[in-house]
Parts: sequence; structure tokens; C-alpha cells
Amino acid sequence: MAKTEQDIKIRNDEVEWEPRPTLGSADYASAEVWEDERQKIWWGEWICVGRAEEVSKPGDYVVRDVAGESIFITRNDGGELRAFYNVCSHRGTKFLDDIEGTQSVRKAFVCPYHAWAFDLNGQLVGSPNVKEDEHFDRADHPLYDIAIDTYAGFLFVNLTTGGPKETLLESLNDGAETITAFDRFKMDELRVGVRLVYEVKANWKIVVENYNECLHCPQIHPELVQVIPLFRFGEVWDEEIPDDGNRMMKGATSFTQTGESPLPTFPGLNPEDLEMYYGTYQFPNLMLNLHPDCAMYYIGFPKGPSHTTVVSEFMFRPETIADPELFKPEATVEFWDLISKQDWDVCERAQTGVSSRAFTRGVFPRQDRFLYWFNEEWRRAMGRPTLG
Ligand code: FES
Ligand SMILES: [Fe+2]
Repeated sequence: MAKTEQDIKIRNDEVEWEPRPTLGSADYASAEVWEDERQKIWWGEWICVGRAEEVSKPGDYVVRDVAGESIFITRNDGGELRAFYNVCSHRGTKFLDDIEGTQSVRKAFVCPYHAWAFDLNGQLVGSPNVKEDEHFDRADHPLYDIAIDTYAGFLFVNLTTGGPKETLLESLNDGAETITAFDRFKMDELRVGVRLVYEVKANWKIVVENYNECLHCPQIHPELVQVIPLFRFGEVWDEEIPDDGNRMMKGATSFTQTGESPLPTFPGLNPEDLEMYYGTYQFPNLMLNLHPDCAMYYIGFPKGPSHTTVVSEFMFRPETIADPELFKPEATVEFWDLISKQDWDVCERAQTGVSSRAFTRGVFPRQDRFLYWFNEEWRRAMGRPTLG
């Protein structure tokens, strides 16, 4: 998807905003649109699935669900990342279980059905009782591989049949916002110190839309609007501040309820970063929050039209995590957990309402203009006409 004039217009804070329509009921709730999205977005775009640190050594692997396709990510002996469908090339068996967290094999993945073995590059290296001869060549039956790349330590896969339409970097720089604006946070060096997982009974786009607006903030997040005063006015960005930063309340040095935290600040930041909150959305499923001492992200894994698993991970400097005297993330994690649960509650209410026969489509006032841009990006990804 290329950046359009409209992206630029909305980005530059269109002044003469006319209320625009939201997506329709079926877009949030129907099985047909979900099926179409799986094909065009979840299996047609670069999708964030985790962090490279999860597979740090050869043979480490994680199993992930991408809109109903089970895949796994591993690292080969040369240290390169590889991703494959969790599907045996013999008779199609799903051969790895859906276990949370990092697992490890020494040299090969063995299918539990007929014990065919695949090496860390997905090559078939063992097929008991099936001898290699002129009629059977193991080289003809590797695992089905998937494009994988990383940026700032995030793992992205692309399941497009025939290969990605664009590089990861092109895709990251396509939208109105991009995680590539925050290299100074050195996210590739950060490590996950805390992980929370939420099961949200709402469409993934409702979760994204909730993330990208703050009209709900004064009502839903009384604690948050204390810390980020701009949010009191239903706004999400201050045109005066670069990178869509939002200034924290006076004197705050950390994203916690009191504005204070014992966590050490990240090295190498700009002086103004020390009093900012930055939130960035990367289509379709990465929502990144940067603070002076912690980086938290949500990764949305849709499980159907009305269910999204949201993984929320908190990253810190590795030397901070390693030092029990320094590693005191509780205040940050508790604050975010409070905000997250407040959000999921209204997302679930929204999902129920948009599924009603009464709802056809809603309206985006000016403060929701970023949601409209997201909908336009979604329409382009879905091959639908944009509304302009
Ligand atoms: S299906 Fe996997 S070894 Fe037969
Ligand atoms: Fe919220």
C-alpha cells in the first residue's frame, strides 16, 4: 500500500473536518468479512508475531497463530531466522503443539505421526522406512516456508502466497505513523521483562480503533488523563511535538499513576523524551507505547470476527532486568494493566453494539480522524475503494 495524499492530509491535521462514516456492522461482526480479511490482510501483509529474543539460539522455536494458521519461528545453525507453517510435508499433520513461550529442539523437528524429521532449515532429513531412491527424494519435500524479517527486535512474518508484495521496511513506512521513527530507543537491545495476555471479546479493528482515539479517555481513564493532560480533551496528538509525543503532567518522569518510578531511564534519548509518552500504531496489529524507562506494546492476534487475543509485553534495558535492585516494574505494569482492562471493557461493549441489527454504521467526528485514516488503510488492504 502506498502512502496517499489523504494520509498526508490527515497527518497534517485537516482543519475543515467533516464527520465521516465508520466501518459497517458486517465489517466488525460477519464471518464473510473475517474470511476476506484473513486472505488479504493476515495472510497478505507483514504481521508482527513477537520478538526476536524469543528465538535467540539455534533450535529455539515459538508457535504462533496467525488468524487461524499455525506457524512456527526458529533459528538455524547459522543464526538466521526461519518461519514455517506448522504442517508436515508428508500428510499435512500439525506437528508442533500450541505451547506458550520458547521451546527448543537440538537438530530437528519430528512429526508425531510417522516420525519424519525436518532440520532447522525445514529440509526433510529423516523418513523412517521410506528409503531414498530414484522414486523418492527427500529434497523434494521440505516444510512450507514463510517470509520473516525483523525491525527493532520485532518479528514480522508475511504469509503471502508467492512471497511478500513489498519489503518489511516499505510496509513499515507506508502508514501515517511508523515504529521506524523511534530508533533512538534502541528497541532491538531491550528485553521483555513482563508479559500480560488478555482475551478480548471484540473485533481486532475495534481494539485498534480504541487504541487510536482518546475521546473516551476522560470518561474511561480518569487516572490516565491525570498523567497525560492532553487526553482530557479527547485529543491524541499535539501538533507542536515531534513524533506524535504527548507531554506527561508537570514533574512526571515515568508513565505511572504518580508519574514516578524507580526504573532507570533509557540511555541516548533526547532531553524532551524524558517527559513524553509516545504511542504508535503499525498496521495491522502492533501498538507501541514508548516511555522514558519502558517500552510496552500490544500485539493483536485475531481469533475470529469477535475475539482478539492481545499480548501486552513490557520491555526494559537488559541490565535493568538483571539487577533486582533496579528492576521494579510494578508501578508501570499496574498502571498499564488498569488502562488496558478499562479499554477491553468498552471494546467488548462496542462489539456487542455493532453486532446489533440496529447498527449500520457510526460517525467519526474530528477527534476520531485517525480512525478514519485507519479505515482507509484497511479498505486499501481489502481491495475496496477508499472514501476519500
Ligand atoms: S504426516 Fe508427518 S510424518 Fe507423516
Ligand atoms: Fe483507552
